[in-house]
Amino acid sequence: MRVVITVGKGGVGKTTTAAGLGVALHERGYTILIVSLDPAHNLADVFNMRSTYRKTRVADRLEILEINVDEAVKKYLDEVALMMKTTFKHLSVLNIDKYIDVLSNAPGVEEHAIMNEFKRVLEENEDKDFIIFDMPPTGLSLRIVSLPFIHREWLRQLKNLRKAILDRRRMLRNVGEDIGGAPCEETEDPVMRELETMLRECEFLTHRLTSNDTRCVLVLAPETLPLLEAKRAFEKLRTLGISVSGCVVNKVLRLHSPVPELRSKLLEQEQCLNEIKRCFKDLVIVEVPFLEREPRGLDSLKTYANYIEPLVDSIVRS
Ligand SMILES: Nc1ncnc2c1ncn2[C@@H]1O[C@H](COP(=O)(O)OP(=O)(O)OP(=O)(O)O)[C@@H](O)[C@H]1O
Ligand SMILES: [Mg+2]
Repeated sequence: MRVVITVGKGGVGKTTTAAGLGVALHERGYTILIVSLDPAHNLADVFNMRSTYRKTRVADRLEILEINVDEAVKKYLDEVALMMKTTFKHLSVLNIDKYIDVLSNAPGVEEHAIMNEFKRVLEENEDKDFIIFDMPPTGLSLRIVSLPFIHREWLRQLKNLRKAILDRRRMLRNVGEDIGGAPCEETEDPVMRELETMLRECEFLTHRLTSNDTRCVLVLAPETLPLLEAKRAFEKLRTLGISVSGCVVNKVLRLHSPVPELRSKLLEQEQCLNEIKRCFKDLVIVEVPFLEREPRGLDSLKTYANYIEPLVDSIVRS
């Protein structure tokens, strides 16, 4: 099973590209699931379907799924509460519920919850040939995909700290101190076991994200701000070791006759197109014109898919 992730500034066409890629790969005979991880969904809209938060069949071998992010956050907090209550049940002096209330407003909870859903979708859909993730705008997307890498470093440090605590306990016990039956060995310690489980989960994700079977596609419009954002995203993904296979330059204006009001816009577009070719010279770059109608529904998405064929070829080959 291979994974494709669309990344780019708000409104440039990430959802349309995810849908177009899905349709193109489906036409080549693959089994496809397109998943929206954006809290503000419009994947179902792009297929002219009703939003249900359940896997919905578009055609034989082609399904879409919008993740209910509010539900995912609730589920994540419930799981954390349960884990804290079982792992720290010996510490009855701590009022754990109080910490859980604080946690529900903590920064990063939404990113964690979305990453959990990303993992769940991967685990539950191994039968698919491709899972295409339609992401939120760049900032949140990068925070989501960075999370397992940051978390992995934290967990490695926390494991070292826990090891040191267990060593001290063992020393105290060996000199005859009463440590109240607290565990001294790593295998008996519930905290260490939990840290190890969490680390394994993070390693599953970092491994998946950096594997050859996962590719990002940058989506941008030929304008300065989307280009700057795409450059930053490219750099960040490279630092994390996540491959970027291509770049969709969407909403390119091609006019048959001059429109004076659009002169400076067209100049900016030409400059951006040159800059895109320079910055992303090792990527497959495809251009999609600004279409007369919003590309929605299977037929329009097939038209959209025609423009991105070279990118589809490279994804299939990679
Ligand atoms: N090539 C195109 N020509 C004309 N309209 C387009 C084109 N590509 C996308 N659109 C339209 O632009 C709007 C934004 O597209 P889309 O929802 O795919 O962007 P997005 O990057 O996913 O946005 P968001 O960041 O809000 O999720 C939609 O109305 C879509 O139909
Ligand atoms: Mg979108």
